[in-house]
Amino acid sequence: MPHKTPARGFYVIIATMQTKQTLIIANLKQNPNTLKEAVILARNYINLKKTSKNANIGMALPLPFLYPIQKEFGKSITIYAQSVSAYIYGPHTGETSAKQLISIGIKNTIIGHSERRAMGETNESIRDQVENALAENMNVILCVGEIQRHGDATHIHFVEQQLEIGLMKTKKQDFKNITIAYEPVWAIGEIATRSANVNEIYEMTIIIRKKLVEIFGKISGSSIKIIYGGSVNSTDCKEIMSVHHIEGLLVGHASLNTKEMKKIIDIARK
Ligand code: PGA
Repeated sequence: MPHKTPARGFYVIIATMQTKQTLIIANLKQNPNTLKEAVILARNYINLKKTSKNANIGMALPLPFLYPIQKEFGKSITIYAQSVSAYIYGPHTGETSAKQLISIGIKNTIIGHSERRAMGETNESIRDQVENALAENMNVILCVGEIQRHGDATHIHFVEQQLEIGLMKTKKQDFKNITIAYEPVWAIGEIATRSANVNEIYEMTIIIRKKLVEIFGKISGSSIKIIYGGSVNSTDCKEIMSVHHIEGLLVGHASLNTKEMKKIIDIARK
C-alpha cells in the first residue's frame, strides 16, 4: 500500500515539539564566595548545555559577578540578575536599576523571590520592579508562592493576589517577556523537608494559568511559561516536570553541585 503524505499540520506539530525547550535556571542566591568559583560554575553549566539539546540553561548570579560573567560567557549561557530596583534611579543605596543592568548587558532578571519578599519586598514594590524591568525590555521571571498551606483556599488567594498586583502595571504585549516561577515558600531551601507534590503543583498551575489568561487574554496568557522551584533535585524533578503547564525549573541549592545539576537537566528536558 502506498504511504500517504502527512498533512502539513503534522510537520508543524513535529517542529513545535522539537523546538520546545525546558527552561532550567540555576538560582545561585548568595553563592559562591568568589568570582573564580562563579567562573568555574559558568564553565560547567556551559559544558552541560552543549550536551542538553532540549534545555535552555541559565544562571542567576549575585550582583558582583554579573558583569564579568556576562562579558566572558554571555554568548554561551543566559545570565539573570536576582532582583532589580523598584526605582528608576536616585537615593536608594544598595539598589540596582533595570537600566544599569541593561547597560552591562544583563537582559534577564528574577523578581519577587520569596527570600527577597521575606526581607521586606511587598507585592506593590514587586509590581514596580516588574514595571521597570519590562520598560527596559528585560525578561522577567516573577516568583510567586504561598508561605504555608492550611487545608483551605487561603494559599490560592495569596498567589492570585501576588499575580494580580505584581502584574498590575504590565501591558498586553509584555507577555512575551514574562515567565512565572511557582515556588511554594514551605518547599524552598535546605531546611525544607520536601518539594511540593504533583497534585499541589498542578492545582496551583491551574490557578496561575487562569489568572494569566484573565490578565493577558487567552492566547497570550496561555503562552506564558510557568516553571517550578523549591527543593528541586534529581529524585523529584521527573515527577515535577510531568505536571501539565510546568515547562522548567528554578533550581536553588542543588545547582551548586554540577553533577546533580547534570542529572536534573538530563531528566527534566522533555
Ligand atoms: P531551593 O531554592 O531549590 O534551594 O529550594 C529554590 C529557589 O529558591 O529558587
